[in-house]
Amino acid sequence: MTVDYPTLAKVIASLTEGEDDPIALMATVACEVHQSDARFDWTGFYRVTAPETLKIGPYQGGHGCLTIPFGKGVCGAAARTGKVQLVPDVEAFPGHIACAASTRSEIVLPVFGKGGRLIGVFDIDSDRPDAFREEDAVGLSAILASVFGTR
Ligand code: SME
Repeated sequence: MTVDYPTLAKVIASLTEGEDDPIALMATVACEVHQSDARFDWTGFYRVTAPETLKIGPYQGGHGCLTIPFGKGVCGAAARTGKVQLVPDVEAFPGHIACAASTRSEIVLPVFGKGGRLIGVFDIDSDRPDAFREEDAVGLSAILASVFGTR
């Protein structure tokens, strides 16, 4: 129940080399991360498209909500605070948006583009309770930083 994050980072780096279109990058990251672990039942991005507003981006899994205000849900909390949200039990998180009734736990990471601007959030939902660990936050943050932050 773990991901080899350094190897995953290398695969994603080689697939995305030379690309700077954010949607192409998000689609590739969502695909590769989703397939890296059976814990991940929904994997995808929400993009900042207007002030305080997140819109669905590339994802893998069942349909997601199309719009999430910064004031709502785990995704909104990540966008608002700029901090990783690790939620072991979604039912205990006030304002959690239940897109799939099967979701039990989730991790949402802020995504920063060049110059440290918030461009969206990366959301992974699991049907397993307490599915995510600090090492997921560390490994995923490193991947997001190298794909979106440094070019
Ligand atoms: N993780 C979300 C909701 C689920 S998505 O629409 C797939 C939240 O921020 O509560």
